[in-house]
Amino acid sequence: MRPAALEICENLKRYRKELHRRPMVQLFKNDANRFRKFSCNLGDLLFDYSKNYIDDHALAMLFELARAAGLEQKRDRLFAGERINETENRAVMHMALRNVSGNPMRVEGNDVMPEVRAVLARMKEFSQAVRDGSVAGSEEGAAFTDVVNIGIGGSDLGPVMVSMALRPWCNGPRLHFVSNIDGDDLTDTLAGLDPETTLFIVASKSFTTMETMVNATSARDWLVAHLGEAAVARHFVALSTNIDETGRFGIPEENTFGFWDWVGGRYSVWSAIGLSVMIAIGAEKFEEFLEGGHEVDRHFATASWDENIPVLMALIGIWHRNICDYPTHAILPYAQHLRRFPAYLQQLDMESNGKRVSLDGTPAACKTGPVVWGEPGTNGQHAFYQLLHQGSDIVPVDFLLAANPCHPLERHHEILSANCFAQSEALMVGKSLDQVKAQMLAEGTPEEEIERLAPHKVFPGNRPSNMILFDRLTPRTLGKLIALYEHKVFVQGAIWDINSFDQWGVELGKKLAVDLLPKVRGNEVAGIMDGSTAGQLAHFHRLRKDNTSS
Ligand code: F6P
Repeated sequence: MRPAALEICENLKRYRKELHRRPMVQLFKNDANRFRKFSCNLGDLLFDYSKNYIDDHALAMLFELARAAGLEQKRDRLFAGERINETENRAVMHMALRNVSGNPMRVEGNDVMPEVRAVLARMKEFSQAVRDGSVAGSEEGAAFTDVVNIGIGGSDLGPVMVSMALRPWCNGPRLHFVSNIDGDDLTDTLAGLDPETTLFIVASKSFTTMETMVNATSARDWLVAHLGEAAVARHFVALSTNIDETGRFGIPEENTFGFWDWVGGRYSVWSAIGLSVMIAIGAEKFEEFLEGGHEVDRHFATASWDENIPVLMALIGIWHRNICDYPTHAILPYAQHLRRFPAYLQQLDMESNGKRVSLDGTPAACKTGPVVWGEPGTNGQHAFYQLLHQGSDIVPVDFLLAANPCHPLERHHEILSANCFAQSEALMVGKSLDQVKAQMLAEGTPEEEIERLAPHKVFPGNRPSNMILFDRLTPRTLGKLIALYEHKVFVQGAIWDINSFDQWGVELGKKLAVDLLPKVRGNEVAGIMDGSTAGQLAHFHRLRKDNTSS
């Protein structure tokens, strides 16, 4: 964080102490306009951040902080297609993938839209052909019934999450996802699939990721064992920026869909990486998804900060992380179809902002990205909400809720919604010792039981939450939600002055795995640098031997 921004943080920390002197509900009592003031809309989508310990003054200081961090200039550099990913020497232009406006978008001065549109047109043609059966496993073969996306990280989480979220619109072939190098993933997926009618999509930006390449090779072996080598060209499709490698794998160019180095893996669901989704929901619905993302891009680029949802989401997050020192952030969608949304956001947020070094290579002067986690409600309520309400750490929360369900079970949706509103209220309002005692007394509890149990039943309250409330979980809304979080992550990275677009932190483990592989395969543990890893491997080999001999 820049020195001027850090100074504002110090002021905010002092001011926070003052704010925290009163209960959060008091802020509502003091200001009848509080909800209207601290919430905003984007079409049908409401972002309510009034249940946070902020007021006009705190928010004004947070805007000042964003200014001191150079947010406006950094946002302009992003949209101008400059090489803001300095450690990988790349621009960041995933917004072009959903630029449905017809206007150019430039990376270092060159309009990338013609290429983007060309790939999108090929994706549409191909997905339609798979859906109507005109592209099949053999000349007169039956249509593909199953599509297996093989990829990991951004080449998996996006398509998995989006296809789950848009299940009501999935009317194409069945989708399957294989990501883990654990052979159970591929084995379980292939069991029950018919090679004749199975299409494999190998999704990998680099086309070198070990998990994906090994899974793809094993899938290829499975197919060849059933249908012969010639079937590979018809049953395999590649999504990648590395056209040389896709060719070497045996996938013909007409089955390869490219994208560009200015699309980060965790921002790639809008690109060819979304092909499996397009096959499942059709090109028209995929377009609506892109439109939702584009709407948020325009909003982020043009709305004033006090109405700019990603900016507000980010600043509230900065408040929690840097002013209040809260270590984690929970994403709680009250939507079963969003059950992989927290996992998706984990990569988006933690791979982007889990950095401890500033852009200039010096240590970051403040805490950066929090641990992001979550589960859908109401399931989470019966698991970890205990800690949210009474734990010794405060966990800021984002609730997400659709006003209207995509299923016909209205009664379920009413109960689901009531739970969501109730949790957000309970976190803020809490239940005091006096209230607990009064209730126990009214219930006829004996005096000493009240004294013994009452402290356990107290809810401290004053716990912060945001609410994102929208009409229905449509492709357009999902596009909006993803883009809102993407830009939130960008704003936070800009304020922390870190590079949100590289991921060097994943490299060391990958390299050591390659080095250790021969030692896992053989039983020679010499040369391992630490006693613990050597001991683990020796035990591993003993167990492997026992298993082989039994
Ligand atoms: O290891 C992390 C990572 O590079 C992610 O950033 C990326 O989404 C994932 O691996 C998969 O990479 P690829 O699409 O190149 O296979």
